[in-house]
Amino acid sequence: MPTKWHFFSGTFILPVLLSVWMQAVSALSIQLIPQYPAVGQSVTLSVTGINGNLRQFSWYKGPNSNAEYQILSYIQSVNPPQTNGSQYFSRASGLPNASLLISDLVITDRGNYTVIVQTDRGSQQESLNLTVYIPVTKPVVRANSSLVKENDTVTLTCETENAERIVWGRSNDRLPSDITLSNDNRNLTFSSIKRSDSGDYYCEAENVINKIKSDIYTLTVNYGPENLIITGPNGIESYFNMTVGTSLSLNCSAVSFPPPTYHWKHNEIDLRKYDSILTLDLSLKENGNYTCTASNSKTNITVATSVVVIVYDRTLTPDPPGPSGEKIGIIIGIVVAIIVVALIAALIYLFVIQKARQKNSNKKNKTTNVSVTPSSGNGHADQNGTENEIQYSSVNFTARPGRQPPSQAEHEIQYSSVNVSGRPARKPPAQPNDDSIVYSELRLS
Ligand SMILES: *[C@@H]1O[C@H](CO)[C@@H](O)[C@H](O)[C@H]1NC(C)=O
Ligand SMILES: *[C@@H]1O[C@H](CO)[C@@H](O)[C@H](O)[C@H]1NC(C)=O
Ligand SMILES: *[C@@H]1O[C@H](CO)[C@@H](O)[C@H](O)[C@H]1NC(C)=O
Ligand SMILES: *[C@@H]1O[C@H](CO)[C@@H](O)[C@H](O)[C@H]1NC(C)=O
Ligand SMILES: *[C@@H]1O[C@H](CO)[C@@H](O)[C@H](O)[C@H]1NC(C)=O
Repeated sequence: MPTKWHFFSGTFILPVLLSVWMQAVSALSIQLIPQYPAVGQSVTLSVTGINGNLRQFSWYKGPNSNAEYQILSYIQSVNPPQTNGSQYFSRASGLPNASLLISDLVITDRGNYTVIVQTDRGSQQESLNLTVYIPVTKPVVRANSSLVKENDTVTLTCETENAERIVWGRSNDRLPSDITLSNDNRNLTFSSIKRSDSGDYYCEAENVINKIKSDIYTLTVNYGPENLIITGPNGIESYFNMTVGTSLSLNCSAVSFPPPTYHWKHNEIDLRKYDSILTLDLSLKENGNYTCTASNSKTNITVATSVVVIVYDRTLTPDPPGPSGEKIGIIIGIVVAIIVVALIAALIYLFVIQKARQKNSNKKNKTTNVSVTPSSGNGHADQNGTENEIQYSSVNFTARPGRQPPSQAEHEIQYSSVNVSGRPARKPPAQPNDDSIVYSELRLS
């Protein structure tokens, strides 16, 4: 920046101010066309503020206007007007308006240029420190590692010349937040690079002359393989119970960049299959362990996982063997055993109940009081002796509590209605035992 600072403060702003002042008093000034002359370009040191009619002028390059520093002198009235001095170089030429044209600028054209102008009114002098700028070269992004693995420390460098400012970018994305930049922005460092840092990076170099973007640098972060899984038709499984004659596709996959190379083994025997998908046409030979190995050639990481394939012939073994078949067998066995035990228990229970009920009803019959209340009408009839039949309207049997075993207590027998038909007369009603008793309804509660 000192160049630029000097340029603005000492060489540009000051002469402009001076020129304003000098024009006011008709003083000489030198202006650069273009304002920022660059190597390879031309520049005109254009002289303004000439006071009077120009007769001749001289240009010098150096600390003073001694003859040894003269580039050329130019006298309007002489032919040819220009005379070369000791500092003359072929790329320099005087213009009729007292300006100096330098073509094909080189770095060494920098320096202190002085013009002395002579007019009919006298002599004027002005100096200018010419700065020759160099355009920035097209930057190139390089990484200090050709093979970047996750968690590496990686530095991207923006290689360019003459840049006063460097900025970094990533195509279609922001720059990651985990980067650090050197003071001059030349170096961009990932202290522990992540897979998400992969992307298209570029830098842009700039100075007062020009601004150029680098080509894209594609930063590739290699990682994995990780999360290796084998999936079957129903997703992730470790056992496949299969029937002879069917086919099975095993799909091995892993998270990896670059994509890994896969490799299948059957019971440690190399199947020479390098596809992520292994399709098996199943015979009994295909029983066993299938191992999938995934290798990343960039990270040199290899991981493996395996599954068990059980192939059974339905005609030979109707029940699938193997761990899950055994489990199902055990479960079925347990369920059957429980049902059998429950059935036996139920039968025993029913049998006991039946027995108890029989015993209970015998006991009840014995211990039940029967009170027969003859209706008044019947009494009259009896007294009259004219009626053949005695009809009892109601009979109450009362079971005696406490006499039965406790378990049977709940099973009280209630007689909801009883019809008693008496025998044809003669006998007194006080002998109920002789009467035939018909139980019309018997209900257990
Ligand atoms: C002097 O002549 C050159 C070339 O024609 C031109 O570019 C420049 O502007 C002129 N300077 C002045 C002060 O007219
Ligand atoms: C430039 O040259 C002029 C006279 O030719 C002189 O007065 C001035 O000091 C010089 N400047 C530098 C920095 O050499
Ligand atoms: C001219 O300016 C440059 C910076 O642009 C500086 O390095 C140099 O010393 C200056 N020369 C003179 C003679 O002032
Ligand atoms: C790249 O540079 C960083 C420091 O900026 C360093 O830690 C790392 O080891 C370098 N990597 C290689 C491969 O040189
Ligand atoms: C990278 O670092 C993270 C966190 O430190 C770690 O979990 C991960 O396993 C590392 N990855 C590799 C490929 O070493």
